[in-house]
Amino acid sequence: MFFNPLEVGMKPDPFKYTVYNALVVPRPIGWISTMSADGVVNLAPFSFFNALSGDPPCVMYCPNAVKPGTEEKKDSYTNVQETGEFVFNMCTWGLRHEMVATAEHAPSSVDEMAAAGLEAAPCHNVKPPRVKASPVALECKHLQTIDLPPGRTSQSHMIIGQVVGIHIDDDVIEDGMVNVHKMELIARLGYLDYAKIESENIVSLKRPDRGTYEQPGIKSG
Ligand SMILES: Cc1cc2nc3c(=O)[nH]c(=O)nc-3n(C[C@H](O)[C@H](O)[C@H](O)COP(=O)(O)O)c2cc1C
Repeated sequence: MFFNPLEVGMKPDPFKYTVYNALVVPRPIGWISTMSADGVVNLAPFSFFNALSGDPPCVMYCPNAVKPGTEEKKDSYTNVQETGEFVFNMCTWGLRHEMVATAEHAPSSVDEMAAAGLEAAPCHNVKPPRVKASPVALECKHLQTIDLPPGRTSQSHMIIGQVVGIHIDDDVIEDGMVNVHKMELIARLGYLDYAKIESENIVSLKRPDRGTYEQPGIKSG
């Protein structure tokens, strides 16, 4: 089938639910902590998230409106406009339930990290704390917000940040690399579905123009 989303939206017949979220998959989850100007911590997951460049390291996440058809902004949008800082926390399989709990639209006065039962750890170069249990956290300074074109029901904003500090749990560093087996990675699929990245499904593919990175326990594909 073919459809133009600008003409028919994201749920043309026979789809029961918005289909787009299931078409660009798997996606990483940007678990973003911010702090309001008043010092309240916010934490929320964003799968419209990605690393944008490696040098300098930059990342982006895209909050849309709190409710379709409204212009009410999410705390993850407002806080970064006010304070210019955010933190990417790596969500793992083991943290998936806490991650989903932080998707609740709680009032701005609620510390969503604490509400999800997560311990906060301080950052070096930004004020928002990181999730202590995340094996990786990237401290980011806001570079730019790009307003994407208004959609049929919502508007999204791409928030770009430059990484100014990198935390890596020493336990996942092994043999001069981060050990993917120890990080328990999770991927966002469509609808309400997620995947666990299991060791047996990870392969290493040699590129024609590069040397190899030999990571223990990863078989050649
Ligand atoms: C796995 C997952 C991915 C999500 N990705 C996005 C996203 O990319 N953009 C977005 O606006 N909301 C996304 N949400 C919903 C937000 O997390 C949710 O609206 C949250 O309440 C925003 O919180 P805030 O108001 O505290 O910033 C996602 C939720 C989940 C569970």
